[in-house]
Amino acid sequence: MRYLILLGMTVCTLHTACAQQKINDLHPYDYTIEKDIKVLHGAVVSAHPLASRVGAMILQQGGNAVDAAIATQLALAVVYPGAGNIGGGGFLVGHLKNGRNIAIDYRETAPAKAYRDMYLDSAGNPVTQLSLDGPLAAGIPGTVAGLFASMKYAKLPFVKLIDPAIFLAEKGFVITAADAEGLNTYKGDFEKLNTTKTVFVKNEPWKAGDTLVQKELAHTLTLIRNKGTAGFYQGETAANMVAEMNRGKGIISLQDLKNYKARERNAVAFNYKGYTIVTMPLPSSGGICLQQLMGMVENYPLSQWGFQSPQSIQLMVEAERRAYADRAQFLGDPDFVKVPMAKLTDKKYLAARMQDFTPGKAGSSDHTKAGVFPESEETTHLSIIDDEGNAIAVTTTLNGHFGSRTVVAKSGFLLNNEMDDFSVKPGVPNMYGLVGTEANSIAPHKRMLSSMTPTLVLQQNQVLYSLGTPGGSTIITSVFQTLINALEFGMSPSDAINKPKFHHQWLPDQVAVEPDFPDSTIQSLEGMGYKVVKRGYIGRTEIIKRAPESRYLEASGDKRGDDSAAGY
Ligand code: GLY
Repeated sequence: MRYLILLGMTVCTLHTACAQQKINDLHPYDYTIEKDIKVLHGAVVSAHPLASRVGAMILQQGGNAVDAAIATQLALAVVYPGAGNIGGGGFLVGHLKNGRNIAIDYRETAPAKAYRDMYLDSAGNPVTQLSLDGPLAAGIPGTVAGLFASMKYAKLPFVKLIDPAIFLAEKGFVITAADAEGLNTYKGDFEKLNTTKTVFVKNEPWKAGDTLVQKELAHTLTLIRNKGTAGFYQGETAANMVAEMNRGKGIISLQDLKNYKARERNAVAFNYKGYTIVTMPLPSSGGICLQQLMGMVENYPLSQWGFQSPQSIQLMVEAERRAYADRAQFLGDPDFVKVPMAKLTDKKYLAARMQDFTPGKAGSSDHTKAGVFPESEETTHLSIIDDEGNAIAVTTTLNGHFGSRTVVAKSGFLLNNEMDDFSVKPGVPNMYGLVGTEANSIAPHKRMLSSMTPTLVLQQNQVLYSLGTPGGSTIITSVFQTLINALEFGMSPSDAINKPKFHHQWLPDQVAVEPDFPDSTIQSLEGMGYKVVKRGYIGRTEIIKRAPESRYLEASGDKRGDDSAAGY
């Protein structure tokens, strides 16, 4: 494959040579991060260069965007164990070449033995570690069921999609500095929360250039390759998961695993100034909140006010305050709670919600009623657009970084700690200072509320963008800002994701901003009465744009991590 460096972008020109790539051409010991690429046929962008390369190889081998999404997720489970997974869950949103939108929900569910107050002590106080650390924190993993539910839209046999992941697990791959830092940071947790030694722990600290080999994970992936969902939810892997539960006071049973089902849902689709935004419905709050946010700002002259002018930021912050208050009050698993969807997304309701917005003066969360929800920021997103007119956005998660930090012994994969996304105790703030309500309380088989917002933008029923991000409660506001940057301020995909971000989530009543947020803008917001706090990076957004005029795909990985694009 020959690369031409052109205006800082990488353009793959030799399609036929690309198509002949084999798994061995993955080069797991020698790869580079590509932040921005411009290609003609198909593009993949994800949190890790090797995973993006796997997805691009599948496209080059004749697979469509769904094939590539399956293969990329499996590769992420190997090369990005902090959030890529087979022991967690996720959401896939797609636009197919036949014009249909799809949404696949493979969110974890609470085990049959779960109950409302299971993380409270005898005095009724939350015991945070119980919903965060070890096997009791895990929901029933959904990812493997989700991959197989996605297969009905794929073209290639599953074995072809999983073989690169098996190769990477079996042969190992060279880790980056960020990978090394993550593994070193969680060494103590891996030791404390596992009764058997895991491959993530070694005596001396990990460093960039070390090789991570995962033989047990390769074995589990091979069982899935050969037996399908039964290779994970039944037999040896299921028995190993239940044995892990028994060692660590977990409650997932063999029956729970056997019963797990991914669900197809109706994608959220709404109009914003002639664009159709397609995104994830409940049990993600992402789609409905994004629809509320876009609806609340639609009637204001954002493009005239300009990017991150005090007026634009204030409007967006006040919309965020109101959407997050509604989220807390009303949203939960739609199979368990009745959610007034039509009302919450009605244009008249959204306009009325902004009636008490006063330009130049901070609102107050004391006056904007409702409650919020618990969430971690470690999740991962991938976007894909293929040559046939299909586009996919997938966000998938273990919840915390490395999830519960418990590895299933002999099976080599990490269990999620997604149970912490439930309201452990309605009305009581969790470790992130967030409050939850009854709509998202724990019940057997229920899905915990999520913020994951895999999103597509269509123009005249053709895909224009695929995007999404990790970031817990900041996911929705990151996707919102990226869309506004692109659609209102006309930014390139790279600028749309990389410009400094801000976030308001109703409670706490403050505007959180990234380290590189301009001081002059902070002062303007403080002058209006806002409390502004600096925090770390917000999200790691991936984006692909299919430029309608040239048909080129511009794919960009976020500057905030090892995020990388690949394509041909
Ligand atoms: N665990 C993050 C989310 O689902 O939103």
